[in-house]
Amino acid sequence: MTFTPDLLEGRSALVTGGGTGICRGIALDLAKHGCDVAVVGRRSQHLEQTAEGVRAVGRKGVAVAADVRDPAAVDRAVTRSVEALGQLDILVNGAAGNFLCLAEHLSPNGFGAVVDIDLKGTFHCSKAALPHLKKQGGVVLNISATLHYLGTPAQLHVAAAKAGVDALTRVLAVEWGPYGVRVNGIAPGPIADTEGIQRLLDDDARRRAAEVTPLGRLGLVDDVSHAALFLCSDAAAYVTGVTLVVDGGLWLTANRGVFAAPSESSLDPAQ
Ligand code: COA
Repeated sequence: MTFTPDLLEGRSALVTGGGTGICRGIALDLAKHGCDVAVVGRRSQHLEQTAEGVRAVGRKGVAVAADVRDPAAVDRAVTRSVEALGQLDILVNGAAGNFLCLAEHLSPNGFGAVVDIDLKGTFHCSKAALPHLKKQGGVVLNISATLHYLGTPAQLHVAAAKAGVDALTRVLAVEWGPYGVRVNGIAPGPIADTEGIQRLLDDDARRRAAEVTPLGRLGLVDDVSHAALFLCSDAAAYVTGVTLVVDGGLWLTANRGVFAAPSESSLDPAQ
C-alpha cells in the first residue's frame, strides 16, 4: 500500500456517485485506509455493491439512495449517513452526468440536467454536510475535470458545470477555512477503467489519448483514489482551495481533440 492502512482511522465519509467508476474506487480506498463510508447516488443496486465492498474490509458501509439534484433528498441522505456512521468528516462530491453532444444540438434540458447534477448537486451536498463537518473540522473533495481549461468540443454542458465546481471549491475554501473545513478538488483526465470513459471514447480514441499523454497511458481509478487519500488526510492539512489535476499531463498538450473524434451527425441526438 502507498499509504499506511490507518491513514484515515476513526473518520467517516460520504461519497456521492460512489456506486460506480472513480467514486466507487475512492469509497473503497477510503475504507481500506480506516474510514467508514456512506455512498449516495440514484442507483441502489450499485451503491449496495460498494457498501458491501466497504464492509468487506471491516469498516461500516451504508448505501443511501438519493438524487443530488433534490436538496430535500440530499438533507435526508446526509442525516441517514450520519445516523449510520455516527459522524461526518469527509464529503466527496462525485455524482456526475455526462454525454457527448455538440452545443448546437444540446437542448436546454440536456444542458440543465448536467449543471443540476454536477454543479448544483455539489452545492446541495456541501451545504447539507457543513453542520456536521464543522463539529471537529473536515474535508470536502469535489471531483472536477480538465475539460473547461480549453474549449473541449461536445462537452459544453460538462465544461460549464465543472468550471462552476472549481469556483465552489475556491469560494468554500475561503468561507469554510475558519471552521477547520478544507475544500479541494481533483480534476481527472480520461480514466481507462471506468464505464464512463468506455462509453464516451471508443478503442481508437482511447489509444490516441494514451499516445498523446506525456506519461504515456490513460489514468486508472487508483491514480485518482491515491490523490483523494492525500487530500482527505492530514498530510494535506495546510492545503485548501486547490484542484489537483490527475491526468498524466494530458491537458497541457492541448491534444484533447479525442472527444471530437465522432462525426458531427453522430453527436446530434435527433439523428
Ligand atoms: N445527447 C443529447 N442530449 C442528451 C443525451 C445525449 N446523449 N443524453 C441525455 N440528453 C438530454 C435528454 O435528451 C434530455 O433533454 P430533453 O428533455 O430536451 O430531451 C436531458 O438531457 C435529460 O435527459 P434524461 O435522460 O431525461 O435525464 P436524466 O436525469 O435521466 O439523465 C444524465 C441525465 C446526464 C444523467 C444521463 O444522460 C445519464 O445517465 N448519463 C450517464 C451518467 C454518467 O455518464 N455518469 C458518469 C459521469 S462521467
